[in-house]
Amino acid sequence: MSEWRPDSWRSMPIVQMPNYPDTVEVNSVEKELASYPPLVFAGEARNLKAQLADVAHGKAFLLQGGDCAESFAEFHPDNIRDTFRVLLQMAVVLTFAASCPVVKVGRLAGQFAKPRSKDTETINGVELPSYRGDIINGIDFDAAARIPDPKRMTRAYSQSAATLNLLRAFAQGGYANLMSVHKWNLDFVSQSGAGEQYRELADRIGEALSFMQACGINPADVRQLQGTEFYTSHEALLLGYEQALTRVDSTSGDWYDTSAHMLWVGDRTRQTDGGHLEFLRGVSNPIASKVGPTTDPDDLIRLIDILNPENEAGRLTLITRFGADKVEEYLPRLLRKVSSEGRHVVWSCDPMHGNTLSAGSGLKTRPFDRILKEVKQVFACHKAEGTYAGGIHLELTGQNVTECTGGAVAITEESLSSRYHTHCDPRLNANQAIELAFLLAEALKDERLAMNQTTAA
Ligand code: PEP
Ligand code: CO
Repeated sequence: MSEWRPDSWRSMPIVQMPNYPDTVEVNSVEKELASYPPLVFAGEARNLKAQLADVAHGKAFLLQGGDCAESFAEFHPDNIRDTFRVLLQMAVVLTFAASCPVVKVGRLAGQFAKPRSKDTETINGVELPSYRGDIINGIDFDAAARIPDPKRMTRAYSQSAATLNLLRAFAQGGYANLMSVHKWNLDFVSQSGAGEQYRELADRIGEALSFMQACGINPADVRQLQGTEFYTSHEALLLGYEQALTRVDSTSGDWYDTSAHMLWVGDRTRQTDGGHLEFLRGVSNPIASKVGPTTDPDDLIRLIDILNPENEAGRLTLITRFGADKVEEYLPRLLRKVSSEGRHVVWSCDPMHGNTLSAGSGLKTRPFDRILKEVKQVFACHKAEGTYAGGIHLELTGQNVTECTGGAVAITEESLSSRYHTHCDPRLNANQAIELAFLLAEALKDERLAMNQTTAA
């Protein structure tokens, strides 16, 4: 393979890139960004990689989630807080049920660029370039808004920096202590009405905490219970921006993309001869690739060879996204192939992107029961193949939106439009996300019990 440089992707075929009208301006913005401080440190990315290695070995579970697309309009401390809070609530439920550490990674502080199925969008006979995320152009359906504007990269950088700053404060400043998170879960159980069925698990968590306190462990004095480790991630789609934030780590001499701890390549940009894989192969962060119905097993091995030639556990996560009706057909042969080739990967399940459909109103939605069905089928496939379902990748928000149908507080197709705010795909709201965590907890517990029995036998 030829020598890697932060800009070597520029000479490769590449899809999903914006057509900026003024390349001189693009170059000047990228140059400026290259002089800005890194958003994350290499050491943090290395810590995350080590934790993901534990996931690859079946000793931990990955919880990754957040907006489909962050936006400038929805930039508000309450939104950041509420998404962070939902992820923590989910993590506590999963940690307890499965008795294993949960690695928490937000789709946050940088998730601004969106791949699109079509280059243009037509409404009432008017055709305009598609919206590609706030880092590239505007969502309003008017010609001026849809022109890619490089200055948006600087704004996305600033918003990411401020978001990350708040997340760090929440994670370490006392907000994320275990007693508070447990109390939020109890509130969910009693307030949502529909949460009552999860009371037993919540009560067991409460008992465990009381037991610890009775033994003299005061959560207020224990660092691990006072705060949490929280990482950020986004799709590495807009490579000019990613390149500008790619720096040599002075400790190791390796290149890191300092725009986030973890980066992934999407289902539309994972070509083995394409620029996106070329860029990602050279940065030392933990990285991921989406895997979908069009992924051929031999191609997947080629992708793994490119992204993780040393077969380092924790380096590569495969995020599968087939759709509830396709998992059983496509996933098993990929699991078999990757295991038979002896590759260390984290297998994570994205039950969102294969289950998007148009509601009668024309709004995109995702039925909660299909999301749940994909999760259950993924666990069943891993069980049958003897592999470990090690993570979940979700689009969710802490806000009380109505974007996905179903869930315990049933959202109907008719009620979708009442609070539909997403800038791209439909997200689970806080109640749906926490409900999913309780349901997922059961599957994870069974998986881990079965694993422990196999190890003990
Ligand atoms: C996404 O994660 O928002 C996305 C576009 O997913 P995929 O690449 O799997 O379609
Ligand atoms: Co999406």
